[in-house]
Amino acid sequence: MLCVNPIGRRADINVRPCRVHATITGVEPIPLLRYLVEAGLGARRQVVGAIKVGRVAVNGRQAESYTMPVYPQADKITFDGKPVSFHARAKIVIMLNKPLNLLTTTSDDRGRRTVLDILPDEYRGLGLYPVGRLDHDTTGLLLLTNDGNLTYRLTHPRFELGKEYLVHIDGTLTQQERELLEKGVPLDDGMTAPAKVKEIGYDPPYNYSVTIHEGRNRQVRRMFAHIGYTVTALKRVRMGNLRLGDLVEGKFKKLSAQEIASTLRQHRQ
Ligand code: URA
Repeated sequence: MLCVNPIGRRADINVRPCRVHATITGVEPIPLLRYLVEAGLGARRQVVGAIKVGRVAVNGRQAESYTMPVYPQADKITFDGKPVSFHARAKIVIMLNKPLNLLTTTSDDRGRRTVLDILPDEYRGLGLYPVGRLDHDTTGLLLLTNDGNLTYRLTHPRFELGKEYLVHIDGTLTQQERELLEKGVPLDDGMTAPAKVKEIGYDPPYNYSVTIHEGRNRQVRRMFAHIGYTVTALKRVRMGNLRLGDLVEGKFKKLSAQEIASTLRQHRQ
């Protein structure tokens, strides 16, 4: 049976069977949202959005709610009119040290290189997508997965996962400026939550380490811009307990179940 591609992927690159987690028996009903996330259609927020705009149908009728129970073996679920099918799929999580000048997306209309282009062919067709986003001009720790529930745990603000960045700015912060960044600064999308800012000398050219618990667009750059500094280099080195370590820029590794569990255990650091 043909199946749809994960949300956000080009329609022509990966028409293949989608699969769901082996623990779903198909006999018990499960919420539509869980079914679609487990089938690899994308992260929870993307799937909720797709249901809201009417892209999902159950037994020929447009789905109205992501909580509606579905019977995986009996109900006919379609996405953009194409059937979503049902087999067990291995979950995979990859840590990449993102180099400069790659887009954090699965595909680009203008043909620019994306973080998926770094992976060898054996990783194609597994429904991998980036967890959150690093700017084109940011390097460092980026996770790629096909596990929508994990993505939710890693990105939802209520879990407050700490993300540490090394920053190079064109100057030296005063004590007052450092405290301001730590307390929160008003950006055009609201006040930033408390952060940690440390001066560092161990990893040139970076001169500060900044830990934030949010994931707003270009947040670190905008925080520094607010107090009059330009970020000239930015690298993410930690998410939760997971450190980039000595992974070389442009290289990646598969994470073990323990490494993933340890990442999720971290709260405030
Ligand atoms: N903050 C930024 O400004 N850019 C990133 O890529 C990540 C965090």
